[in-house]
Amino acid sequence: MRCIYLIGFMGSGKTTVAKETGQLLGWRVIDLDQEIEERFGRISDIFKRKGEHAFRCFESEVLEAVRGDDIIVSTGGGIVENKKNVDYMNYNGYVIHLQASFKEISKRLKNDTDRPLWNNGQKKQRELYTKRLSLYHQAAHFNLSTDCQTPEEIACQIAKLSKSFE
Ligand code: S3P
Repeated sequence: MRCIYLIGFMGSGKTTVAKETGQLLGWRVIDLDQEIEERFGRISDIFKRKGEHAFRCFESEVLEAVRGDDIIVSTGGGIVENKKNVDYMNYNGYVIHLQASFKEISKRLKNDTDRPLWNNGQKKQRELYTKRLSLYHQAAHFNLSTDCQTPEEIACQIAKLSKSFE
């Protein structure tokens, strides 16, 4: 079973780190948000027209459609909202949490207008961050801090970890 799921808050670097790790290991990289957009349209439109619940259903559907050996799956920040998703990832592979501080995330997403759950004001952002952090810790096999490391350095750490995977 050689499948890695990267989880973490919006802006924690999952997409970039997945690409770097994929190159290092020669594994296929799948970005769930991209898959959702290819199948169901722009994420911001899905939230606007159909609501978060519909988005979460699409997200679970796409997660379960992606399987195989030697793949790295970059997930959306809310994948852990659904326990079924967490159980699925734990059963099918290794779950790695990329942890960035709220301060760092706020800096990175300062000008972001694409993420519906980020554009809710600072109080809501912080509440979501705090709630999610404990969900990420419960879901992950490994936690890696990303604030002071480059995507290349994090990818190297993941590549090393992967050597112990069956
Ligand atoms: C979401 C995070 C986004 C995307 C959607 C919902 C969330 O992905 O799936 O906007 O609930 O945190 P990123 O974590 O890649 O930004």
